[in-house]
Amino acid sequence: MSMIKLKSEDVGKGNLVLVNKRFEVKTATEELVPFSESFKNITLSREANSLLIRLLEDIGAGEGIVPVSGYRSFEEQADIYNTSLKENGSEYTKKYVAIPGASEHQTGLAIDLALNEGEIDFIRPRFPRFGICEKFRKAALDYGFIERYKEEKKTITKISGEEWHFRYVGFPHSKIIEIGGFCLEEYIEHLKDFAYPDKPLKSFGYAVYYIPRSGGETEIEAEGSFTVSGNNADGFILTVKENSL
Ligand code: DAL
Ligand code: ZN
Repeated sequence: MSMIKLKSEDVGKGNLVLVNKRFEVKTATEELVPFSESFKNITLSREANSLLIRLLEDIGAGEGIVPVSGYRSFEEQADIYNTSLKENGSEYTKKYVAIPGASEHQTGLAIDLALNEGEIDFIRPRFPRFGICEKFRKAALDYGFIERYKEEKKTITKISGEEWHFRYVGFPHSKIIEIGGFCLEEYIEHLKDFAYPDKPLKSFGYAVYYIPRSGGETEIEAEGSFTVSGNNADGFILTVKENSL
């Protein structure tokens, strides 16, 4: 049994942070790594990148899919936002570019991908719902990635459909989100029904608990194989692999 001390400021850290206009980025992932030798300038959190590389290998993507944009600093996001405002206008920019501070790209957990063909649009890369891209989209759920911005959820996410933008949340969350028909905003809210320690959400061999943030330190106990993430709003999510003792 391990005692875990959760500090109030840790709420902004982890694979399940919700980042949007309401809940801005507090901290980028501690360790960013290059996507690959050929794409050194595109970086991601170490965990997300290793799963992404494995996923692309397992589906035999070869050169068919290329990364377009991974981690962005606040300044880079501001630059992209301002350039798009000038080039594409305000309506388009608000649909497809998060305001600086509110972009998931600032966490190192989001990646834009493109079908490797001709010229690639940086803001709206083509990642169609067929062929290798669709194969990726389906398999991604088993590797902890979700299609973050679905057109039908835009009134909640405040971002239009982005079929090229994938967000690492970790397994089993990716799978639960897709099967439940949630967007990340809805999932983070849904998890509040599963309060630690008595009422976990049990799915895919995991038990998932919500732990509200208290003013100071929150102490919890967990055993076996588990992870803890802040939700970037008001609490933490504990994910325990069952039968892992
Ligand atoms: N395109 C997404 C919303 C971003 O700018 O973070
Ligand atoms: Zn993106």
